[in-house]
Amino acid sequence: MAKEFKRTTVTAALPYANGPVHIGHLAGVYVPADIYVRYLRLQHKDVLFIGGSDEHGVPITLKAKKEGVNPQVIVDRYHNLIKKSFEAFGISFDIYSRTSSKVHHKIASDFFRSLYDKGEFVEKTSEQYFDEEANQFLADRYITGTCPHCGNERAYGDQCESCGTSLSPTELINPHSAISGKAPVMRETTHWYLPLDKYEPFLRKWILEDHKEWKTNVYGQCKSWLDMGLQPRAVSRDLDWGIPVPIEGAEGKVLYVWFDAPIGYISNTAELLPDSWEKWWKDKDTRLVHFIGKDNIVFHCIVFPSMLKAEGSYILPDNVPANEFLNLEGDKISTSRNWAVWLNEYLEDFPGKQDVLRYVLTANAPETKDNDFTWKDFQARNNNELVAIFGNFVNRAMVLTHKYFEGKAPVMGPLSEYDQATIAEVGDIRKNVESYLDIFRFRDAQKEAMNLARIGNKYLADTEPWKLAKTDLGRVGTILNLSLQIAANLAIVLEPFLPFSALKLRDMLGMKDCNWESLGRIDLLPIGHQTNKPELLFEKIEDAAVEAQVQKLQDTKKQNEVNEFKAAPAKSNIDYELFSKMDIRIGSILEAERVPKTSKLMKLKIDTGIDQRTVVSGIAEQYKPEEVIGRQVCILVNLEPRNLRGIESQGMILMAENADGKLEFIQPSEVVKNGSQVS
Ligand code: 2FM
Ligand code: ZN
Repeated sequence: MAKEFKRTTVTAALPYANGPVHIGHLAGVYVPADIYVRYLRLQHKDVLFIGGSDEHGVPITLKAKKEGVNPQVIVDRYHNLIKKSFEAFGISFDIYSRTSSKVHHKIASDFFRSLYDKGEFVEKTSEQYFDEEANQFLADRYITGTCPHCGNERAYGDQCESCGTSLSPTELINPHSAISGKAPVMRETTHWYLPLDKYEPFLRKWILEDHKEWKTNVYGQCKSWLDMGLQPRAVSRDLDWGIPVPIEGAEGKVLYVWFDAPIGYISNTAELLPDSWEKWWKDKDTRLVHFIGKDNIVFHCIVFPSMLKAEGSYILPDNVPANEFLNLEGDKISTSRNWAVWLNEYLEDFPGKQDVLRYVLTANAPETKDNDFTWKDFQARNNNELVAIFGNFVNRAMVLTHKYFEGKAPVMGPLSEYDQATIAEVGDIRKNVESYLDIFRFRDAQKEAMNLARIGNKYLADTEPWKLAKTDLGRVGTILNLSLQIAANLAIVLEPFLPFSALKLRDMLGMKDCNWESLGRIDLLPIGHQTNKPELLFEKIEDAAVEAQVQKLQDTKKQNEVNEFKAAPAKSNIDYELFSKMDIRIGSILEAERVPKTSKLMKLKIDTGIDQRTVVSGIAEQYKPEEVIGRQVCILVNLEPRNLRGIESQGMILMAENADGKLEFIQPSEVVKNGSQVS
């Protein structure tokens, strides 16, 4: 049997304070966390909901550098904006603080010191890239160069986004600093490492054996990290923004942002409850749940638990219901490319419609796989579900009650079989919704809750009380009483999902209490209970409003193309002899197939006029094999063969890259014979 806990600490990932928050944040982390917390509160459970801004890390320092201001200016700006957006969307944190706070600096610093004093860290000196012009060590992401695997010239020091390979900065060919553009030099530096390898046996048992109930995407990611084998992780960085490493001789070094950020959950709790925070983090009867996005899984399931375990006095998370990613109109949400729906802008464009976005994001939540947000779907869900089902039902029930019974809950007469079947369905609502909420399946839970509106809407449509008013007012009373009871149930069950509309509905119905235990009952409003004047809960969203949003995105796309395209700088001159060494021919693609387990690579068989040969080309994301077969192409035939994913590639197809990154074939304007030389 599952353990009974006395209280629950719920955390939601601390967003970086280097930009506003967007719908991806809301869908992946904050709405689900808020639904869960509201649900626990309605059940009168003891719960704390902790949030805050993550204000350290390299991207913040770079943004500050770009603007010529102190990083504090950046984090102040975005912390306040983010906080306001969350408040506007009803994300009901008990505290939303920040990692630049004094309390946090002290608690994170003490935490490091306690691990240091216990000898939990390993100290290592290694050579790392240093930008002499910017006078700083370079984080992996800020070193770019050529990928040794696919030749992409814009690979990062931690990953090549072209072929997907994980890299370390020293593997890059021709590395240069993303800050100054200069070639970095190697310099020695000392850091403290958390030996994750030491915790591997513990993590294996704790996750893989004791937490089989975790979501499969979370469990699977943990398993693959553990199966790859864990390495010690540096918990300090050479940087001038962050929490200073509290050790003598560590000047110029700060705690790694991923070391201090999760401690932010603890310090924000301590800021809220200076005298009693420990019971929320150290008492075995407290249940800890982290809501995060999938890119944070390793930190919350492996690194932070190892830190907590090393410290020794903390509880570990009971669950980490991480979500996958939300895309926008078919493309990855991207802050740098402004491909997002920013919450502050949504609030301006759709004032008062926070619940609509909450509803759509939950209905489409990326719970088990990445999902797509489209404005068409947003409009359809609002118009066909919130307006046509929920809003319409409530409005009809209330307007008719006002028309025939002065807004008072009428007497309930004898019940028909249909009434009884409907009452039975209402009676099931609580257990149905709970069965999903308890296992973090918020989409299904919301669907079940909305099903009650469907039941009510159908009940009114089938019983047609407006046709009976003249002949059987008693029957009309029964139907409307039951309808009002369903509406009252809706005001409770939808509170976690649509808090603003649920509150408006409770006010309209004149309900005083909102107890989860009352769900399913049909005596929530006593006979004669006076309801208030009905108002519309939702309004139709017109085509023009969503078309304007789509247009805004299209404008962004165009702007990005203009911004992003920069002709590469001219290369230095070569002599004719060198050029003439290149044997470029026209050939035809005879066969094409994707290279298994890669997203980019395609294996091509080419008739070069000289022979038939295999070439591996990075075009698989943009072309289907059947689209390229038969094409004439330009091929460099005397390139030294290279092994790519176990296939010998004998040459290179010449392609031109579009402003939007699409690769276009270079081909003759008229068909020529295969083997023709290009010169
Ligand atoms: O990925 C992010 O946005 C991080 N700022 C999340 C931090 S969560 C926690 F550890 F604070
Ligand atoms: Zn690559």
